[in-house]
Amino acid sequence: MTVFISIYKIMKLAKNYSSLRTEIDQLLIKKLDNSKFPETLIEPIRYIFLNKGKKVRSIILAESCALFDVKYTKILHVALALECIHTYSLIHDDLPAMDDDDYRRGELTLHKKYDEATAILVGDALISLAFELISEDRGLSAECRLQLIYNLALNSGGKGMVGGQMLDIGLKPREASVESIKKMQQMKTGDLFCFAFTAGPIIAGSGSDDEEKLFEFGKLFGLIFQISDDLIDVESTLTEAGKSVNKDQNMDKATYVDHYGIDEAKRLMKAYVKEAKGILEKYGSKAQPLLSLCETLSNRRS
Ligand code: IPE
Ligand code: IPE
Ligand code: MG
Ligand code: MG
Ligand code: MG
Repeated sequence: MTVFISIYKIMKLAKNYSSLRTEIDQLLIKKLDNSKFPETLIEPIRYIFLNKGKKVRSIILAESCALFDVKYTKILHVALALECIHTYSLIHDDLPAMDDDDYRRGELTLHKKYDEATAILVGDALISLAFELISEDRGLSAECRLQLIYNLALNSGGKGMVGGQMLDIGLKPREASVESIKKMQQMKTGDLFCFAFTAGPIIAGSGSDDEEKLFEFGKLFGLIFQISDDLIDVESTLTEAGKSVNKDQNMDKATYVDHYGIDEAKRLMKAYVKEAKGILEKYGSKAQPLLSLCETLSNRRS
């Protein structure tokens, strides 16, 4: 029953945000058409991106803006930039030198469909494209663009996502403390979410108090999202998840699930969801979409 409720909620989530996801895809198509990239780069980017992925980070970005009455049409360039960085992180995460995965987003990983050099270079191109997209977004002030570029660089780089991925490959279950797993998960996954959550107050110019609150929420949300990802690895299937499962144990990964076991990891994740809800209390019912996302995504199977 819980599974059905969860699938229903995910479907509802996808339906509610389908125009946002389509517009992000359309912007990418337009951008690639005018990019002067070689066709050998354009084709694999289209393959890994279009009609693929949940685009959760963009949905969060849109809802974080909605909290401050900024319409989602204003943030499409930033949303696409964020999805470019996230997609590059997945392409590189799947490489043989990292998690060595064969399936992503329901199809072959990029290096399996094409080759490793293409996967590396597509990832590289997506990083530059992300910063190009925000730089050229004339719908935002120059000051706002600079702040977003700076935040995206920090959150995606060595002190954020890339740093977390580096910790991930060095952390072994037997030696890992809970603190070290938490830090790694919040960096590799949480920091890009923090970018999405804090972009709302930055774009709206609503001030540092709001940024701090949403940053705090983003850190917890990242942890919740990664624990649910680690649960997918042990409880879901290749067909449901669209990516290989039962990988974390085989690859000797330190996760909450490995450390605490499935039941305790779920209990802790629920406690984090409760804690996260408290952070957004001051926004009242306006925060409801973000709270629902948090709840729904903690119950997902893909
Ligand atoms: C997967 O992210 C990698 C993690 C950070 C856990 P998503 O679950 O958001 O992947 P897509 O974009 O929907 O494929
Ligand atoms: C990856 O975590 C997080 C990234 C920053 C890409 P995982 O390695 O658990 O993600 P999946 O399970 O391959 O999507
Ligand atoms: Mg990984
Ligand atoms: Mg992986
Ligand atoms: Mg995983």
